Parts: sequence; structure tokens; C-alpha cells
Amino acid sequence: TPSSQDELKRVAAHRAVELVQSGMVLGLGTGSTAAHAIDRVGDLLRCGALRGVVGVPTSEWAAARAATAGIPLTDLNAHPVVDLSIDGADEVDPALNLVKGRGGSLLREKMVEAASRRFVVIVDESKLVPRLGASRLAVPVEVIPFGWALTLRRLQNVFDAVPGFNLKLRAASTDAKASAFAEKGAEFEPFVTDNKNYIVDLFFEDGIHGDLSRISDDILRITGVVEHGMFLGLASSVIIARKDGATVVVN
Ligand code: A5P
Repeated sequence: TPSSQDELKRVAAHRAVELVQSGMVLGLGTGSTAAHAIDRVGDLLRCGALRGVVGVPTSEWAAARAATAGIPLTDLNAHPVVDLSIDGADEVDPALNLVKGRGGSLLREKMVEAASRRFVVIVDESKLVPRLGASRLAVPVEVIPFGWALTLRRLQNVFDAVPGFNLKLRAASTDAKASAFAEKGAEFEPFVTDNKNYIVDLFFEDGIHGDLSRISDDILRITGVVEHGMFLGLASSVIIARKDGATVVVN
């Protein structure tokens, strides 16, 4: 049931927040799992168990959530070194590489998390995959709107030899009402990131085979690509909340 999956997200988030200490500069993640961490830090500040924590939000959404929770905000310019970041992920592989960005916040997430002394990922066990891309959910790439169709073709070329590979520009909304509207011939409305860019979603039938860091380089070398949602070697640890009630920390 959805409520029990949300409960697992909360368990993982609360375990991660035990690592937060007074005075820390804290990277605030984006998504339904990170929401529990933000709310928990707010609660601990309010009751005085934590003091002097400042948050670096990884999205406009995280900034708004943190403001509601009562966490004072700062940014990477004022605090180029972040003590600890806590964020969710869409996929986690056995080497603790991640796919992130289903929410579209991958660029700021990667900037904040790469600037962190410690980056703790919080997931329920449904996020574990044998190989990145294996869940058949999107591997997102943030692209500049200018010439996006050309950038998409260049991304296609990187994966030309991969059977079952597919990619598409992310739409602003995928709800039923919007797609019915689209069928009536309304213009396609792209999803726009916090940085005013577009997202191209990559889909793999059987996950990404091969050298991930080489594939990362091939994607990043394309002019027009800003960043992709593979987070390679960035996670310090992953906290996994399991259905059997166990919480596992993998370093
Ligand atoms: C946001 O862009 C993503 O990277 C999220 O961190 C990721 O999608 C996890 O979200 P949930 O915790 O909602 O699954």
C-alpha cells in the first residue's frame, strides 16, 4: 500500500537525520523521501534538540518545504562546503551509483551533493536495482532549450547500438487531463526545470550495460547537455528501509 511505502521513506529519512548535528550546513534533498528529512530537521530545530543548522536547498521545492519547516536557508556561494546532504534517489545500484532526477532537480542536487563532505541517500527497498536504468524508469538528462531536438538526436547517437533504447523530451504534465488535451492537437508543453532548461528522459529495456563513467563522459561532451541524472561515486552511504522492518546502512 502507498501509505506503508511512505512509512518506509519516513523511517529511512529519520535515521539519516540522526547524523545531523548543531551548527551544520545541511544539503536539503528533493522528493517525497527527502520531505520527511526536511520536516524532521524542522521539528528538531523547533524543539531545541538542534541549533544553528542552515540548509542548502537542492530545488525551489526544497527551499519552500524548508521555509515551511522553519529551517534557515543559505546557498553554495555563501557555503561552498556542505557538511552533510540527505536526499532520495530513483535507483541505487550495488556500487551505490544512483539515478536521480525524476523530479527534475538533478542539476542542483548534483551540485550540492558533490560539494558535500558526506552525502547520505535515503530510500525504501523498491529503489534497489541490479544495474542503473533497470527499473525502466527514466534516466534524465537536463538540456538547454535552444536546439533541444538536435541535442536529443546526439543523445540518441550515444546509445544507437543499444537494443530497446528509447528517449523523449519530458512533458510538463503527464496527467490524464493534459494528455487528452494534447491528443486534441494542443501544442506539446515541455517540462521546465528550476534552471529554465528541458529534460530528455532516456529509457533502457535492461538497464545500462558498459562503463558508466565513459557513458557519462559521452553524454556530457554533447554541447547543449547541461547534466545527467547518473550520480556516480557520489553517495557516501545509502540508508535502505525494508518491508521486513529492518533498516540497512550500506557504505
Ligand atoms: C528529484 O529530482 C529526484 O532526484 C528525487 O530525489 C528522486 O526522484 C527521489 O524522489 P522520491 O523520494 O519522491 O522517490
